Amino acid sequence: MFDREAYRKKVDWFVKNRFGMFIHWGLYAIPARGEWVRSVERISVEDYQQYFDEFDPVDYDPGKWARAAKEAGMKYAVLTAKHHDGFCLFDSALTDYKCTNTKAGRDLVREYLEAFRAEGLKVGLYYSLLDWHHPDYPAYGDKQHPMRDNEAFKGVQHNFDNYLDYMHGQIKELCTNYGKIDLFWFDFSYDNLTGEAWRATDLVRMIRQYQPDVLIDNRLEVSGEGFGSLLSEEPSEYSGDFVSPEQIIPPHGILDSQGREVVWEACITMNNNWGYCAQDKFFKSSEMMIKKLVECVSKGGNLLLNVGPDAKGNIPQESLDILKGIGRWMKDNSKSIYGCGTSKLDKPEYGRITQNGNLIYFHVTEPQIGFVPLMGIQADQVKKIRLLKDGSEMQIIRNWMTGNYPDVVFVSFGPNPALPDPVDTVIEVELKA
Ligand code: GLC
Repeated sequence: MFDREAYRKKVDWFVKNRFGMFIHWGLYAIPARGEWVRSVERISVEDYQQYFDEFDPVDYDPGKWARAAKEAGMKYAVLTAKHHDGFCLFDSALTDYKCTNTKAGRDLVREYLEAFRAEGLKVGLYYSLLDWHHPDYPAYGDKQHPMRDNEAFKGVQHNFDNYLDYMHGQIKELCTNYGKIDLFWFDFSYDNLTGEAWRATDLVRMIRQYQPDVLIDNRLEVSGEGFGSLLSEEPSEYSGDFVSPEQIIPPHGILDSQGREVVWEACITMNNNWGYCAQDKFFKSSEMMIKKLVECVSKGGNLLLNVGPDAKGNIPQESLDILKGIGRWMKDNSKSIYGCGTSKLDKPEYGRITQNGNLIYFHVTEPQIGFVPLMGIQADQVKKIRLLKDGSEMQIIRNWMTGNYPDVVFVSFGPNPALPDPVDTVIEVELKA
């Protein structure tokens, strides 16, 4: 029987923290055409070897990454320990295809974990279920393998169980060699490769044995597409702990079969690539990302915002600027994010609402003529209304202009028609207990 109460306790930190950093980093930072470059360009293992030989992240300093995340208001991070290309950023005993055998010469995952923990952030690891380097992973005829239509691979025998042993072994290494891991982000299931095809029950039991509190995403069952059995009354053992919508914010949040809110985390890129892409300069603005973070929280979800450090180990300046912009807003307004979630009140025309118990946050993103209506609350319910940014009191406005609407609570930002914060000005309404 699924123990819903224990589950809710386990995910509590995650749901409260709301905002994390995704980090896609690996050999693909060198070709700098995104992390799928091997698949898209059908690059053989041999031709990809040059990047392994070159890999030398001289600027790698995960403490810098951690501080950038923390200053943006992020509370956790997820780093690609192994992506689809199979290259390991950790010192696995099960392969030579790892960072310690490159010029980097160190266990990059270990350093990341230490640096992020030191900044007080929770730490997660992404691990690709796909592996385009392992000889026992299906190649010819697979949906996305770089050699999927290379005739030389037709009929080549492989023993998938060998691969599964390898994968389980590596995940065991991550579970046992690095202290407490807060989150595992497996990626991804497709076609017949889902659930027990990964020996998922065994895998999850093993993980829970070593890391009883670790959270797991839902991709042992699905991918960015599909929700998985977490939405059912009796989730499978490997349903994972949260749904992982990718490059989309669920239009109405996500509810389970009983109409209960489901834990979810939208993973979103800042430009159009996860891994470093030198020519992709199509970055979203920090203003936009602030609004999207608020949107996620107002719909009951988390935002995992991606950065793709370059081959030297630097997070692109554009991304650092976005993080800074978000951080400036978070410094004043994070109380409307952490610990907050959906509200029963309707979404106002001018913005959104997040709520934490008897604290309701009206996010005003569009200036109003005159006064701001706080639809859905009554004056006699209100204990206090404040501008969140500075805590200053906001009085309820009652005059001839508002007089026709005795049921609506109005407040004022004063004589300036522009919003105090043009991106999102937050009003905190404290209801009487
Ligand atoms: C995908 C992609 C991948 C990326 C991931 C992030 O499914 O395969 O490259 O790591 O989404 O969510």
